[in-house]
Amino acid sequence: MFPEETAYAASVVHTRALEFSTGRMAARAALERIGVPRCEIPRRGRLPVWPPSAIGSIAHTRTLAAAIVGPATGHDGLGIDIEARTAVSPQVAERVLTRTERHWLPASEWRTMLFSAKEAIYKAINPMTGEFLGFNDVELDIDPTAGEYRARCRRNLRSAVPVAAGRGYWAVYRAHWLVVFLIPPAPDTA
Ligand SMILES: CC(C)(COP(=O)(O)OP(=O)(O)OC[C@H]1O[C@@H](n2cnc3c(N)ncnc32)[C@H](O)[C@@H]1OP(=O)(O)O)[C@@H](O)C(=O)NCCC(=O)NCCS
Repeated sequence: MFPEETAYAASVVHTRALEFSTGRMAARAALERIGVPRCEIPRRGRLPVWPPSAIGSIAHTRTLAAAIVGPATGHDGLGIDIEARTAVSPQVAERVLTRTERHWLPASEWRTMLFSAKEAIYKAINPMTGEFLGFNDVELDIDPTAGEYRARCRRNLRSAVPVAAGRGYWAVYRAHWLVVFLIPPAPDTA
């Protein structure tokens, strides 16, 4: 790791240091695959600070870490999340899913996928708009056949336009949902 990262890892509990360093490893490996030389990924608040040519997102659980990256010109926002497949209980779902989403669910384990999709959206959008979005501010529209989801804001927020422009995708990996959300460049900057 790089100096600022090492200093941060030394300041937190061991499990947090492990997830942080593994996330940084995943991010650097992903950056290398798009031709970005090894570099530090410091923190600004809780946000990772990407090199100017790239944009990305990091996620971890106790056993897995993942990152998504792309050229800064390719997307305005990228978000990734991973969750153990059945992590979200019905009680938690009551708080984080809308009534429509709860009724949509074809199987209980999709609860967690929908939760994870919202976290991926938040990670893509929050660095762009600086806005906080609660779980009930966003509603998902899942197309299981296409393997794609979309989202809309349920109230008038700055994030509404980029959220509606984004597309999400998911996969199952080692009993986890791996979910991403990609926000294309706004038309005037494309
Ligand atoms: C930020 C948040 C989504 C992170 O999710 P999490 O399950 O706690 O943690 P994960 O392991 O998946 O991800 C953590 C990583 O996300 C990144 N991150 C943290 N805050 C972030 C933010 N505001 N925007 C983008 N990325 C962020 C960091 O890289 C962090 O890892 P690091 O500290 O090792 O660098 C969550 O803590 C949160 O605040 N959620 C509330 C808002 C929300 O999700 N709303 C949903 C409606 S859109």
